[in-house]
Amino acid sequence: MEVASSVSCIIILLVLFCGSAAGNRKALYSVEAQDEGICKSMVETNGYECEEHTVTTKDGYILSMQRIPVGRSGGTPGTRPPVLLQHGLLMDAITWLLMPPEQSLAFVLSDNGYDVWLASSRGTKYSRGHTSLSHYDPAYWDWSWDELVAYDLPATIQYVYNQTGQKLHYVGHSQGTLMALAAFPEDEVLSMFRSVALLCPIAYLGQLTSPLAKDAAENFIAESVYWLGLHEFDPRGEAVIKLLKDACSKPGVDCTDLLTSFTVIRQGTVTMYDYVDVVENMNRYGQPTPPAYNMTGIPNDLPLFVSYGGKDALADEDDVNLLLGSLNDHDGDKLVVQYRNDYAHADYVMAENAKQDVYDPLIAFFRLH
Ligand SMILES: *[C@@H]1O[C@H](CO)[C@@H](O)[C@H](O)[C@H]1NC(C)=O
Ligand SMILES: *[C@@H]1O[C@H](CO)[C@@H](O)[C@H](O)[C@H]1NC(C)=O
Repeated sequence: MEVASSVSCIIILLVLFCGSAAGNRKALYSVEAQDEGICKSMVETNGYECEEHTVTTKDGYILSMQRIPVGRSGGTPGTRPPVLLQHGLLMDAITWLLMPPEQSLAFVLSDNGYDVWLASSRGTKYSRGHTSLSHYDPAYWDWSWDELVAYDLPATIQYVYNQTGQKLHYVGHSQGTLMALAAFPEDEVLSMFRSVALLCPIAYLGQLTSPLAKDAAENFIAESVYWLGLHEFDPRGEAVIKLLKDACSKPGVDCTDLLTSFTVIRQGTVTMYDYVDVVENMNRYGQPTPPAYNMTGIPNDLPLFVSYGGKDALADEDDVNLLLGSLNDHDGDKLVVQYRNDYAHADYVMAENAKQDVYDPLIAFFRLH
């Protein structure tokens, strides 16, 4: 994919996110009332069985999960190795279901004998519940991806582990890789992984997602509830364009040129959320600046599959090389590193040939572990 198309993919992703996260009260309620959920709308329609699940995180967020227990040709549920798929930034579980069954990773895994589980992070369309907060309440949106690492990932992994009684394979795309890498030092999480696949690994990224998710979310609340009022929500409309502009005008997020913003903000290591205010940072972290995640804590014997693309504006090659450098001592038979020079970020979930290029080698790797 060329750079131009990755720009448009990023824009599409942003619009998808806006399309799902914004909207006025009235429109949203009526959409929710008729909304059939991911199983009914995107899985069963393709001839697969599907179960809707929910898991509550330790901080009260209620996340939706979908399970595809057997493939199209059937099989014995409960005996298959579980795989958890974690989507990337500004997407949700549908990321794995966008292409026809022969080309979508969730379906390909299902047809190859896996018990497939899809997660959707807090704040995404189907994961808007909370034990005490409404998603119209700005307090609901008071999180950054630190909470995705600290709460969402452990909850979904633990849930699949509990339900299946088996360790799981994990596939993360983009931000989904960052979540796993940041969580590795937690033995509790690590002990439930059978293997880990990182598609478009992001290990060195500076402050990309925190301000973007947080400020975009704050804007959704302000814009959708108070500003849009009762007008219809139109993802291509001026309101959304204004919303994006507002999100992009916040300090630390410069999206005058979206692609530039995604490539420029990526330098440096990944730190926890920077409250900017020194006192607040001291309160939270006991130090004036936010601590960095340790991305080099990957155990040498963890089966690890890494695939990255030469046309990827987000998971930049130099950054990936930093990550790979930290894997020098990794057990040789536990590590597969794949480089696709023609792949851009979205190709990992949307390319027509991703099955043969990436998914088949991935499944071959899973079979060994
Ligand atoms: C998993 O099972 C343990 C032990 O029964 C339970 O304490 C925990 O709440 C469960 N967690 C999830 C996320 O299902
Ligand atoms: C990161 O983790 C690795 C492995 O546990 C350890 O050797 C290293 O010292 C840690 N680095 C930092 C900066 O804490």
